[in-house]
Amino acid sequence: MDIDITRYRGREQAYVKHYFLGSYLQDLIHKVAGSYDHIVYVDGFSGPWQSGDENFGDTSFAIALNALRSAKATWRNLGRNVKMTAHLVEMSKIAFRKLESIPAKFPDIEVLPRQGNFVELAEALAREIPKSAFVFLFIDPKGWSVNLEEIKGLLTLPNCEVVFNFMFDFINRAASMKDPAIVKSIDDFITVEHWRNKLIAAIDEEKPDREAILVDAFKTSLADAGGYKYVAATPILRPLRDRTLYYLIYATRKPHGIEVFRSCQIETLRTQSAIRGATKLAASTLVSGQSEAFNFNQMTNDQTEEFLKTEKESARNELYHMTPFAPDGILYGDIWPLILSKHAIRKTDLNILAAEARRSGTITVKNWEPRHRVPSNHYFLQRVNSLIQ
Ligand SMILES: C[S@@+](CC[C@H](N)C(=O)[O-])C[C@H]1O[C@@H](n2cnc3c(N)ncnc32)[C@H](O)[C@@H]1O
Repeated sequence: MDIDITRYRGREQAYVKHYFLGSYLQDLIHKVAGSYDHIVYVDGFSGPWQSGDENFGDTSFAIALNALRSAKATWRNLGRNVKMTAHLVEMSKIAFRKLESIPAKFPDIEVLPRQGNFVELAEALAREIPKSAFVFLFIDPKGWSVNLEEIKGLLTLPNCEVVFNFMFDFINRAASMKDPAIVKSIDDFITVEHWRNKLIAAIDEEKPDREAILVDAFKTSLADAGGYKYVAATPILRPLRDRTLYYLIYATRKPHGIEVFRSCQIETLRTQSAIRGATKLAASTLVSGQSEAFNFNQMTNDQTEEFLKTEKESARNELYHMTPFAPDGILYGDIWPLILSKHAIRKTDLNILAAEARRSGTITVKNWEPRHRVPSNHYFLQRVNSLIQ
């Protein structure tokens, strides 16, 4: 995937967002185009927004359209014709005028720009999209003014998945405001109960984890609104400060979706570390007039690797604790998507952890086939009951 980073000076966070979107869509669309005849991309807040490229290569819709185009070409070469449609919704008249030039640039894809408020157009869009299509929603608002109930028609489409930009930094500041209009709009967006009480209770703690409370509340709201079984989040940090700007929240009903998400997330976290390291180094060089003696890049990469190591250990524990004691048990195909929806670990790495657990004897798998190094979905996992042994 080719995204020109020089277009993103001063907004490196958007590069990281687009890097994730591009790598996820490249992987996903190529795979699902093998089994769906029609793929629909919906960009609810498409822009162009702060684009510095006449071809809009630094926008979410162009990145998505290129992914659709490349998947379509690959499958066409294999003799399969997959219809690709993109609905690009934008409220601003000025931005919309630019969007109108896009269909001519992508004649191989049905590109349908719409001017208007995404939330108001959502029901009509949901009726228009064929139920048999695979649908990917990208919802990237500038704040929280999205009433989940009003976009439910789209969220509940049968073969749908979504990436929602949860603007944590704004929402965190607004979450404790008392203005009734703000309270109502946030309640329409974070629809689960009790999160405000949890925030109030957290203020008494030494390290209130507002981030986890708000992100978990929104994840559950999105899961409830769309009937999504697997929901996960990846943080996008400020380029120069160690603070979260927003989270990309991903929701799917398919195990395969969460597998692709985790793999792209890990690649994105490493890319984010490298970009932030380079951006910090460039900023410090600008201030001091000379290059720093130590390597920021290395430092931030270490933090990411430390996080991934902790996630791997948590996944190992989860695998152990979620496996029922013999004589009960669980199919590997049922357990791995649940673990991946909780922890940032690749499926291939979880497979290795499962094989290690079997070798060490903490988990038994009676139907493990000879010469198989990693588990298959039909393997029946049981936790060893030391009291019975
Ligand atoms: C954060 S920008 C989107 C950036 C774009 N998704 C990208 O990554 O390149 C949000 C865009 O949504 C538009 N917008 C704001 N409110 C909207 C609404 N209710 N419906 C549709 N578009 C809206 C803004 O004009 C702006 O272009």
